[in-house]
Amino acid sequence: MNATMSDPTTRDVTVAVRPAISVADLSIEVDARDTFVGRALPLVRHVSFEVAPGEMVGLAGESGSGKSLTASAVAGLLPEGVRQAGGDIQVMGRAPGAGRRRDSDVAMIFQNPMTSLNPSMRIGDQIAEAVRLRHKGMSRKESRRRAVEILDRVEVNRPAERARQYPFEFSGGMRQRAMIGIAVAREPSVLIADEPTTALDVTVQKGVMDLLDRLRAEMGLAVLLISHDLGVISERCDRVLVMYSGELVEIGTTRQVLDSPLHPYVDGLMRCIPERALELGSLQPLPGQVPGPEAHIPGCRFADRCAFVTDECRQAPVPMADAGPGREVRCLRWQELSAARVADVAQLDEGGVR
Ligand SMILES: Nc1ncnc2c1ncn2[C@@H]1O[C@H](COP(=O)(O)OP(=O)(O)OP(=O)(O)O)[C@@H](O)[C@H]1O
Ligand SMILES: [Mg+2]
Repeated sequence: MNATMSDPTTRDVTVAVRPAISVADLSIEVDARDTFVGRALPLVRHVSFEVAPGEMVGLAGESGSGKSLTASAVAGLLPEGVRQAGGDIQVMGRAPGAGRRRDSDVAMIFQNPMTSLNPSMRIGDQIAEAVRLRHKGMSRKESRRRAVEILDRVEVNRPAERARQYPFEFSGGMRQRAMIGIAVAREPSVLIADEPTTALDVTVQKGVMDLLDRLRAEMGLAVLLISHDLGVISERCDRVLVMYSGELVEIGTTRQVLDSPLHPYVDGLMRCIPERALELGSLQPLPGQVPGPEAHIPGCRFADRCAFVTDECRQAPVPMADAGPGREVRCLRWQELSAARVADVAQLDEGGVR
């Protein structure tokens, strides 16, 4: 990537040293008056991670594990009644929402673009409006011209004609491209994509993911990709973060986490996903229940489902442990368990089974 490309939205990422997203010890809770138990409930606990400019990082985890809330906090868009209870979030070195939210460096796209697009406004005008939020005082005519350029950039055919159409005239995949266009129009540093292709056909999914990947590379965008689909994550992301019951439980390169997971939960997930299913890419829940936010659990939140649990695991919250460069795991026993797994594989190799 270099800074001499003629495109005005191209950024030079080679000089960037600070992370685009930096989350340290983030906790999120729901207000007492919004809960049926009469006290505030933690929904996300002690989450820390970083994403570099130009990097696409996957955020995986079963439904309800806290992925969307974590992402919303980074975007400065937590829902009403839900608040940041602790920790620090920085986007390009600033707290999210510092200054006016609309100037924010974070853009977010969701599973269903129809809920975010204005149904009664032409697509081109919606993009032009986003352009003018970034470039205050730009004429309507100029912003409309830019909107057509952006539609072209997100690979919508016949962009000038398409700009005059309404969302209902767009197919699902085209709507997601239009949403990405609106996001890109704000020239963000960070793009959060929350299940961006889950509602789309497989072939359309690939096109949209190719587009996100291209924009990441061209604009030096930091992308946080939330997906149930480990196939998509493994194809597109160098690193992956795995959440369980409101906590991050494992961080590593995608290859490390998929091929040799350290946390018993992640290991269990990988074992119960046959290779084929992994290619097809769905994050199957393990047997048993994920504890909800109301469950009072003094120690490891996976303890009740863990085959390796000891008394110590149940006593106090388990911190993230450093498991090598860029590798973290929230398990007291990760070292002995990973040594045992290595021995297992060696034994199988000797027996000629593998
Ligand atoms: N506005 C809210 N008020 C109260 N609780 C909430 C709210 N939003 C989410 N929660 C709770 O917080 C937890 C995490 O929710 P979140 O939406 O972040 O999960 P997720 O990992 O994105 O799940 P999914 O894969 O289903 O999208 C869940 O227990 C959920 O019920
Ligand atoms: Mg979600």
